[in-house]
Amino acid sequence: MDGDGRPVLVATGTSSAIGQALMRHLEPEWRILAIGRRVHGADAVPVDLGQAPSTWRARLEEVLRRLGGHQVEAVVHLAGVVFADRFEATTEYEWDATLRINLSAAAHLLQAVRPWLGAGSSVVLVSSVDAWLAAADGPAAAYGAAKAGLLGLMRHLAAEWGPAGIRVNAVLPGAVASGNGPHPESWRAMAERVALRRPAAPEEVARAIAFLLGEGASYITGVGLPVDGGLNVTY
Ligand SMILES: NC(=O)c1ccc[n+]([C@@H]2O[C@H](COP(=O)([O-])OP(=O)(O)OC[C@H]3O[C@@H](n4cnc5c(N)ncnc54)[C@H](OP(=O)(O)O)[C@@H]3O)[C@@H](O)[C@H]2O)c1
Repeated sequence: MDGDGRPVLVATGTSSAIGQALMRHLEPEWRILAIGRRVHGADAVPVDLGQAPSTWRARLEEVLRRLGGHQVEAVVHLAGVVFADRFEATTEYEWDATLRINLSAAAHLLQAVRPWLGAGSSVVLVSSVDAWLAAADGPAAAYGAAKAGLLGLMRHLAAEWGPAGIRVNAVLPGAVASGNGPHPESWRAMAERVALRRPAAPEEVARAIAFLLGEGASYITGVGLPVDGGLNVTY
């Protein structure tokens, strides 16, 4: 699996609706190393990010080594999990899994990929408006803590890796009509607060990620971009 000339993207969460939309946007020009439980193909890295990094990091590094000297142009951490329980009811398992998959996996992934990043490489971490805001019937604080942690990680790495020409940004989706998106009843309660009065299509989040990865964002780093239809400007 030596470099074949195409830019390389290392991504988690590619099986989600947002991930599928991103793949459609980037393929076939990009070569995608997909990391997750439901990934297939020669460039897939089938791993459970809910397990200790020691169980998957070596496998990822082995796949990266097969790229030879080829640089990794982009990294997207899109894997995420959310549990509906309120904070008091959140179990130790739910807390650990939420932090591990949403936040810690990004850190271990970026540590593993760092030797393959160089000038022009770009990282996008998928956070959430839940990093800033608590919905009345929204997900537990564990999810908000993990998504806020991603923003801290993003800003520190933007500062640390900027001198090497590596950009690090985040997107903060609001309500997306996919996977963990709002149930119709939650959406009815939320709709009045979304300026555009509709949830995002997965493609709309994917396009924002692709923008931050691309040349159009070449002077943007350390930014958390809300992709929320104006959810964060009303109360
Ligand atoms: N939908 C929304 O309204 C919304 C709003 C704000 C932010 N987001 C964020 O956007 C991202 C995608 O959300 P979604 O709602 O589309 O989610 P989803 O359909 O539930 O997909 C979750 C993704 O995370 C991966 N994942 C989960 N647990 C994993 C594990 N143990 N190991 C490896 N990968 C794992 C899954 O991959 P595999 O199944 O292949 O393992 C899947 O691709 C998440 O980060 C989410 O927090 C979503």
